[in-house]
Amino acid sequence: MTDKRLPELAKSLKRELLPNHVAIIMDGNGRWAKTRGRPRVYGHRCGADSVRAVVEGADQLGIKVLSLYAFSEENWGRPSHEVLAIMTLLNTYLLKEREELKANNVQLRVMGRLERLPERTRKLVRETQEFLQDCNGLVLNIALSYGGRNEIVDACRSVARRVQSGEIALQDINADIFAGALYNCDLPPPDLLIRTSGEQRLSNFMLWQMAYTEFYFTDVHWPDFRKEHLVQALYDYARRQRRFGVLADESEALVGREVVGEDGTLMFERHD
Ligand code: FPP
Repeated sequence: MTDKRLPELAKSLKRELLPNHVAIIMDGNGRWAKTRGRPRVYGHRCGADSVRAVVEGADQLGIKVLSLYAFSEENWGRPSHEVLAIMTLLNTYLLKEREELKANNVQLRVMGRLERLPERTRKLVRETQEFLQDCNGLVLNIALSYGGRNEIVDACRSVARRVQSGEIALQDINADIFAGALYNCDLPPPDLLIRTSGEQRLSNFMLWQMAYTEFYFTDVHWPDFRKEHLVQALYDYARRQRRFGVLADESEALVGREVVGEDGTLMFERHD
């Protein structure tokens, strides 16, 4: 598929059928490398090329937010040379892609326990965010040293502090207040989760935010994943009915979104 056909294809997918937020668990780098008789880090390096392609594709297709699971808290347990290789790839990506990201008006967000990252990576994240501060297009949200359970724990602490200080009362806590304490809470929840390499797990990714997310699993390993695979996932998503727990007829299912009511209950609200 040529790049030129992407905006055209995006048009053939009705805007209201496109996800606003796509989250991706980029899996299979190690296995992909192994089948080629190469070290695991070679898979990660080629995986970084997929990141470039998919960020570009998401932008061209009109997706608003792209969340990438680049490094989990559990990944700290990998051999130190592999951790170092992934951090180096991240650093290289941030340094080399800045201009391109700016040219495409991409905003950069990160989420996770960033204090565990090497100082150089943190500095490059900060500098890249400053460099892109005037951009207002696609939000690229990279999960680094990220764990969904710890995100929930961090949010609990933050809400508990507000109660302790008297800013809010215990009975004020509801789903809305809680969601407001999560990382990057101003972003909408993912509409679509893509996981590559045939695995069908959430692996501690955005546990709270994925309550109503549609899941798409593909056997393609991440280093082989390109824009056309993203388009395939979007087509699959477009034919799904999202009911958000309510009984909606076919037309209703495609034109609403979940909202949290004043009493903290989740409700379905039509777009019109
Ligand atoms: C999972 O595959 C992949 C990772 C843990 C690392 C992902 C990192 C990159 C693609 C590098 C660059 C990232 C950015 C954002 C520029 P795996 O190693 O678990 O694969 P396996 O399941 O086959 O072992």
